[in-house]
Amino acid sequence: MDRQSASARAERLRRQLNELRYQYYVLDSPTVDDAVYDSLNVELRNLEAEYPEVVTPDSPTQRVGAKPLAKFASVAHTLPMLSLNDVFSIEEVEAWQTRVAKLLGDEPKEYYAELKMDGLAASVIYEDGMLVRGLTRGDGRTGEDVTANLRTIEDIPLRLRQDPTVPEQVYRGRFEVRGEVLLYKSTFAALNEVKAAAGEPLFANPRNTAAGSVRQLDPKLTAARRLNFHVYGVASEIEGVATHAHEHELAAKLGFRVEPHSELLYSLASIKKFIAGWNERRLDLPYGTDGLVFTVNDRASYLSLGVVGKAPRGAVAYKYPAEQATTTLLDIQVSVGRTGAATPFAVLEPTLVAGSTIQMATLHNESEIARKDIRIGDTVIIQKAGDIIPEVVEPIIALRDGTEKPFIMPQNCPVCSQPLHKKPSEAVWRCVNFDCPALERGRIIHFASKDAFDIEGLGESTVDVLLDAGLIKDMADVFSLKPDQVMSLDRFADISAKKLVDAIESRKHVTLDRFIYGLGIRHVGQQTARDLANYFGSLERFVAAEPHELDSVAGIGKVVSGSVTAWLSSERHREVLRKFAEAGVVPVSFERATGPLSGQTFVITGSLEQGSRDEVAAKLEALGATVKDSVTKDTTYLVVGTDPGASKITKAEKLGISQFDEESVIRLLGAS
Ligand code: IVH
Repeated sequence: MDRQSASARAERLRRQLNELRYQYYVLDSPTVDDAVYDSLNVELRNLEAEYPEVVTPDSPTQRVGAKPLAKFASVAHTLPMLSLNDVFSIEEVEAWQTRVAKLLGDEPKEYYAELKMDGLAASVIYEDGMLVRGLTRGDGRTGEDVTANLRTIEDIPLRLRQDPTVPEQVYRGRFEVRGEVLLYKSTFAALNEVKAAAGEPLFANPRNTAAGSVRQLDPKLTAARRLNFHVYGVASEIEGVATHAHEHELAAKLGFRVEPHSELLYSLASIKKFIAGWNERRLDLPYGTDGLVFTVNDRASYLSLGVVGKAPRGAVAYKYPAEQATTTLLDIQVSVGRTGAATPFAVLEPTLVAGSTIQMATLHNESEIARKDIRIGDTVIIQKAGDIIPEVVEPIIALRDGTEKPFIMPQNCPVCSQPLHKKPSEAVWRCVNFDCPALERGRIIHFASKDAFDIEGLGESTVDVLLDAGLIKDMADVFSLKPDQVMSLDRFADISAKKLVDAIESRKHVTLDRFIYGLGIRHVGQQTARDLANYFGSLERFVAAEPHELDSVAGIGKVVSGSVTAWLSSERHREVLRKFAEAGVVPVSFERATGPLSGQTFVITGSLEQGSRDEVAAKLEALGATVKDSVTKDTTYLVVGTDPGASKITKAEKLGISQFDEESVIRLLGAS
């Protein structure tokens, strides 16, 4: 390919990838399989590696890439980034409304109501349609230049989307939007899962973690946190944008994610309804919210109302009461999970928080307890944020009477009595006895859980019963359970026993990502399991993974790859895998793209110029093909690179399987 056609191809790839990215991240409605996105991305990367001069700043490959900074530069905001006055009751909202009506000389016709997202404010600035700068709020007048970090957020377009209904002015010169950087609850949980597995102190909450992530000096770290960005306003005067609602519409047209739950309201009664309507429902949103924002919709009126102190008069934040309560901490006990982590938890005097009774709360680890100086007998503040596990915020020291007792971490595992261990670099004590019943129990519960094998009816208590009766020793044994064995247990009758065995039977062929996740390999959370499944495609290939292959899986670092390698090389784990296979438990290969090569099975031998074996395999798979390691009668084509394996060729010849050279593969990939 010459330079000119490379540049044209790169431009088309960039457009297409940006469009797919927008559909995936902003609209949440991908139109193609991930593998298609990935293979186009690989092609663009290769092209840009070969012709570095065709790289443009808005290329999707340029999201991460900036070098770590020594510190952030301070930059003055063109317009100050204001904050909002908070109110806590409907009466205060009414008082605000009355003030506004008085100042305007009339009731505002419309209020724009939206959710107040609980993250970190940021401003993103475009010059001629290209993202040039991203700033934190800072003190409102001056923020920190976190451009490289904000560029890693997929919700933020690197180039504004072209839209024929958008005034030209937006694409010429400077244009600025403002919004909230958020860490979604699920992303937060996944990050903490990794932290917990590594025995590191957990992140406190999504908001602080989002803020910390934006202020990382190394954009790679920010990228790994998978942040989101929701726009709540436009900070440039644009012709035709006469209301706050228009600002949101404009931002959406330009490719931003805007808060989708907004409404135009016309009266105090509808404001009341909006507040009541979101009271509970907001807890089910995938991100944290701490209230609502009401804004005078008409921009001219809003601006005429001016600013007092740091807050505009034309808008107000309604804050929901925090979901905290106080109770007595009766005891601190230690539970041991599947990774051996011995986690102290609080046993509480049962109390009602945000609508549910809480009797236990996590205390994270020994050093957290010491840091917060939590003692047995303390009156403590507990907190429940949405669906996050309740936690002890702090003790109320003023209420102590001297009978409170400090917590002493036990030296031995409360289950198997073996000594607990702690690495100097970690905060967590662990039971390192592989045979500890608590670990095995934890592994089985994890394996059967919703996000793993999802076996209905096999929850904690059933696992306990089966273990106690000696019917299972490890997760693979679950698949050999017979109805009459289960029936003999106290808790079960004919029907319930059969139901459990049927439920187990029906989960023999879960998807590969669930299978890998279910194995409970340290550091392998759901996302990592998905990455691995995507990359390897089949259990066969995953089990045979070499360390260097694991290292080349996108999103997987040394720690994870080391942990996977160690897991796979353990004889006991091999035994579990063997037992799975004997019981007929075989994951279905990872969801494949369907395409022109669907139904065809390729085997690759030798090295290819096109890229690594796995890269070429990914490209073929993106077109629907299956790629396997060994030649069998089901193989459709053998792809022969340089230095091919003689045995594969001999076998293919014997079975009469067609052979392909690299040229033909390139043609095939190009033509399909
Ligand atoms: S409007 C004039 N709308 O809350 C201030 N702010 O307390 C413009 N926030 O700094 C802000 N969701 O970080 C607005 N839908 C929303 C918001 C929102 C969250 C944050 C924002 C702001 C702070 C003000």
